[in-house]
Amino acid sequence: MIVDRRQFFAGVAAAALVRPAMAQAAPVLNLGSIAAARGLAFGSAFDREVLEDPSYGQLIAEQCMVGALENSLKFDWLRPKGPDADYAVADQLVDLANSRGLAVRGTALIWNDWLPDWLEELDARAIASTMDRHIDETVGRYAGRVRSWDVVNEPFFPMHGMEGGYRKGLWFEAMGPDFIPRAFKRAQAADPSAQLVLNEAFCEQFDELGNSVRPPLKDLVARLKDQGIKLDAVGFQGHLKPYLPFDDTAFAAYLAEIAAMDVDLMITELDVDDSHLPDDAGTRDAAVAARVSQFLDAVLQVPRMKSVICWHLSDRYSWYRHADWYAEMVGESGGTPGRAPRSHLFDADLKPKAAAEAAAETMRRLSRS
Ligand code: XIL
Repeated sequence: MIVDRRQFFAGVAAAALVRPAMAQAAPVLNLGSIAAARGLAFGSAFDREVLEDPSYGQLIAEQCMVGALENSLKFDWLRPKGPDADYAVADQLVDLANSRGLAVRGTALIWNDWLPDWLEELDARAIASTMDRHIDETVGRYAGRVRSWDVVNEPFFPMHGMEGGYRKGLWFEAMGPDFIPRAFKRAQAADPSAQLVLNEAFCEQFDELGNSVRPPLKDLVARLKDQGIKLDAVGFQGHLKPYLPFDDTAFAAYLAEIAAMDVDLMITELDVDDSHLPDDAGTRDAAVAARVSQFLDAVLQVPRMKSVICWHLSDRYSWYRHADWYAEMVGESGGTPGRAPRSHLFDADLKPKAAAEAAAETMRRLSRS
C-alpha cells in the first residue's frame, strides 16, 4: 500500500485546507476522498510545470493522494549528459509534493526506451554497473520520500522481435531478461520499505499488441514471485484507445489472474487517446467520459486493485500535445491538425469535465464502504 496513515491524513488535511474558499460553491468534487472511501489511492502525474503554474499544483494537491513524477526521476532526465546525476529539480518536486501531503511515485526507474546517447558508448559490463548505480543512488536518495517505484517499465514489446517478447534496449541487450530481477533486488536493498512495481502498457488492448504482451507479462510475474523477488504490485498504464478493440471483462479476468499471484494491482497512467474523435468538444468529452466509466467499472471490481493514477489531471498539460503520432492520428482521422487533446479528467481551465464526474460516479457506486 503506498499511502500510509500519516500520509493519508496529511492528504486529507491538504484537501481540507482548500475547501473553505470554495464553501459557497456547489458541492466540491474531490476524487481523492471519494477514492479513499473505497480503499483506493487516486492520483495523477505531474512534473516541473507545477513550479510555474501553482494553480495546477493546487488542483493536484486538492484532488490527489498520490503524485507521480512524469519525467524528472527518469534516467534520461537525471543523467542526460553522462553518468553523474543532477537531482536538483527532482528534489524540489519530491519535496513540494510531500509537503502537500501527496505520496510520491517514481516512474520508469529502468526502461529500455528514452535512454541518452552516452550510454550507447559503454560496453555491457559498464551498462550493467550503470544500472546498479542509478538504482542505488536514486532509490537510496529518496528512501522514505518516494514511496513507490515503477522499478521496471514496459518490459515487453513483442514487435521488436526479441526472444521472449522483450522490449529491445540497452539494459536488455547488456543483461538479457536478468536485468529485471536484478533491478528489483537492487531497489529493495536501496529502500526496503518502498513499494516496488512492475509497470506495463497495452494490456487492456485486445489487438495484436495487447494480446501479445499479456501472456509474457503474466509469466514474468510468476517467475519473479517464484524467485522470491519483492514485487509488490503490477501497474497497468491504461492509456485507453477506444479506436482499438477492447474487452474490459476479459481484461478484468486477466487482472484477477495476476492478483492471484499475490501482488497488488494499479492503474498507473489513465487517460483516453481522443485522436480519432471529431473536433467537437462536447462529443469528445462524452466519449472520453464513457470510456473512463466503462473501464473503471470493470477494473475496480477486481480484488487488490489499489490505485487509479491519471497521466496528468488536466488537458492543459496533456502529454499528447507533444506526441507527433498523436497529431498525425488527428489529421488521419479527419480532425483539425494541431487541435488540443481533451484526454483528461479536467479541462484546460482546470474545471472538471464529464470524465471526472464519470470517475467519481463509478468509484462511489463501487464503494466498498
Ligand atoms: C512520457 C511523458 O509523458 C513524456 O513527457 C515523455 O516525453 C516520454 O514519456 N508510458 C510511460 C510514461 O510509461 O513514462 C510515458 O511518459 C508515457 C507512456
